[in-house]
Amino acid sequence: MKIHKSSASLQKALLPFLEDCKSIGFVPTMGALHKGHISLVEQACQENECVVVSIFVNPTQFNNSNDLDKYPRTLEGDVALLKKVSGNIFVFFPNAAELYKENIVSKKYNFEGIENEMEGKHRAGHFDGVGTVLDLLFRTVKPNRAYFGEKDFQQLQIVKKLVEIEKLPVEIIGSPIIRENSGLAMSSRNKRLNKQELEEAALIYKTLSEVKGKFKTSTISELNKMVETEFISNSLLELEYFEIAAVNTLKTASTKNKNTSYRAFIAAFIGGVRLIDNIALN
Ligand code: PAF
Repeated sequence: MKIHKSSASLQKALLPFLEDCKSIGFVPTMGALHKGHISLVEQACQENECVVVSIFVNPTQFNNSNDLDKYPRTLEGDVALLKKVSGNIFVFFPNAAELYKENIVSKKYNFEGIENEMEGKHRAGHFDGVGTVLDLLFRTVKPNRAYFGEKDFQQLQIVKKLVEIEKLPVEIIGSPIIRENSGLAMSSRNKRLNKQELEEAALIYKTLSEVKGKFKTSTISELNKMVETEFISNSLLELEYFEIAAVNTLKTASTKNKNTSYRAFIAAFIGGVRLIDNIALN
C-alpha cells in the first residue's frame, strides 16, 4: 500500500479512476485509526471503486496546543489496519506545508450558526479549521462520496454546510457511532486513557442511554439535573457540557416540540483527555 505524501503523487495514482469515471470514496482522518474509522473505510470500499484515506493531524482545528501535541500519531499501525481491508485503498499522508502551502491559517466560515453551538462554544475557531482543511482535502482528492462518523455529529452537519458553501460536488455520508463493549464511543483519544479511565468513561454513554430512556416522560430541565448529578458523583469524569439540541439547528433546547427531532450531546474530560458522544432521542 503506497503512502502518498504529495497531492501530485496522489492525483497521479487516482487518474486512471477519474478517466474511467469510476467513483472515488474518501475517508478523512487524523490517524490513530480504530474500528470506527475502519468501518467507514469498509463502507467506502463497498460503495466506490477506490478509496482515499487521508491521515493528517490538522493544526488549525486545535484550540489547545497541548491537545495537538498529545494527539496520537501511529502511522505504521494505521497502515497495518488499512491493509486488512479489501479494496483499492490509497493513503494520503501530507504534511502541513503540502496542504496549506505557506499559509497555515483557517478561513472564516459562516455555517449559519451551527458553528457557534456546543463544540463551537468550547473550542474557539475549531470549525473554521475543520472547514478549511476539508476544503483543501476535497479539492485535492476530488471524491464522489466522503464518509464521516456520527460521533462528531456537529462536524457532520458543518461538513454538509461546507460543501453547499464551497459548491463541492461530493456526497456527504454519515455513519453510526461504533462503540466498545462498554458502550464507550470509539475515538482516537481513547488511546490516551488507562484501564480505569476507559472503564469510567463508559459513564458517558450510560448517561446518554438513560436520557434517551427518560426523554418521553421527563422535562429537559429534569434531564439536565439528572446528568449533572451523575457526573458530580464521579470523581474521574468532569462534565464540560450536556445539551439536548434540535437536530436541524443544533440549538440548545429548553422545551420539547412534538415535531422536532432531538439529540443529546456530552463533552467530558477524563485524565486530561476530552471525549464527546451523542445519541438520537426521538
Ligand atoms: O474528524 C476528524 O478526524 C477531523 O476533524 C477531520 C474531519 C479529519 C478534519 O481534520
